[in-house]
Amino acid sequence: MAMTDISSLESKILATVAGTRDEQALEAVRVSALGKKGAVSELLKSLGAMSPEERKANGPLYNGLRDRVSEAIALRKGTLAREALDAKLAFERVDVTLPSRPEPRGTIHPISQVLDEITAIFADLGFAVAEGPDIETDEYNFTKLNIPPDHPARQMHDTFYMAPQADGSRPVLRTHTSPVQVRTMLAQKLPIRIIAPGRTYRVDSDATHSPMFHQYEGLVIDEVTHLGHLKWTLEEFCKAFFEVNEVELRARPSYFPFTEPSVEWDMRCDRSGGGIKFGTGNDWLELAGSGMVHPCVLEMCGIDSEKYQGYAFGGGLDRLAMLKYAIPDIRPFFESDLRWLRHYGFAALDIPTLDGGLSR
Ligand code: FA5
Repeated sequence: MAMTDISSLESKILATVAGTRDEQALEAVRVSALGKKGAVSELLKSLGAMSPEERKANGPLYNGLRDRVSEAIALRKGTLAREALDAKLAFERVDVTLPSRPEPRGTIHPISQVLDEITAIFADLGFAVAEGPDIETDEYNFTKLNIPPDHPARQMHDTFYMAPQADGSRPVLRTHTSPVQVRTMLAQKLPIRIIAPGRTYRVDSDATHSPMFHQYEGLVIDEVTHLGHLKWTLEEFCKAFFEVNEVELRARPSYFPFTEPSVEWDMRCDRSGGGIKFGTGNDWLELAGSGMVHPCVLEMCGIDSEKYQGYAFGGGLDRLAMLKYAIPDIRPFFESDLRWLRHYGFAALDIPTLDGGLSR
């Protein structure tokens, strides 16, 4: 190829390289010049068919062309990469001086709110939070709570049973938070003072019953605790939770296999005006089941029932939320309807504390 043709080929390639706007276009130019069948590669290939003199004359020209084209492509590649990065950074830039959105869209679910309220109140009374799994052994959900396999009290709980295990045992979805009592007594040193809120399950569904619901459970074990302490504790809890100065609790005899004696507590309220007022009136609302922990339960959990005693209590957490926040039906709690959540939910940054106010 004549000198003039070589330099016009070079100008043409370099102009195309300079005109590329992205790395893909540049790669296409590289292939058309330096690829297997590229214009420059074809020239280099033609050297093989030349006489030694011709090769000597053309070799440096063709190789020089290849070197300059390669260098121009490498340079352009660097420039394009920098430009792409600059464009990306400009696009992803966050203006931290912009005002935040006026209203947060998410809200705290009333169950989470009430759970936080309950733990804040009991933490203030010196209770530690304890937890257990949703899938529980039959042993912990029933047997160690003094409910052996053939006990009629098993019919009180409409239990979801899981498929039998290899050893024949059948795990259950826990029907109450009371197995956390068992786990705590087996694992912790005495004295014990815990509150255990959590999910529970029963085959049950209507306006006030849900197959998945929540309970809270309290347990205190030491050498001196008695039902009087329980009454005071529940009174203090109710005052703080319902945000009233005075409450009146009524005790009714009851039956739970894991407590003896067993007591149910109601709180005085007033339903006469359509809504509900706490602390006054002539109506009663059911608050919690409770009792002194049965000596058999203490013994089954490795605690000397001659020396130690204490109380346990438990109730429905969803029910407390419904009462306090005037929510008539339990089912929408678990339907994930945003309109319902915006109506009954709580501001995301309002963490309930006793000094800051529980529900404001
Ligand atoms: C118990 O579950 C006992 N473990 C409570 C207890 C603990 C007694 C410690 C003594 C000592 P009960 O089956 O009554 O008790 O249930 C307690 C509360 O759970 C009920 O009063 C109700 O508020 C709530 N509850 C029960 N089933 C449902 C349901 N399907 N949906 C919503 N709440 C429910």
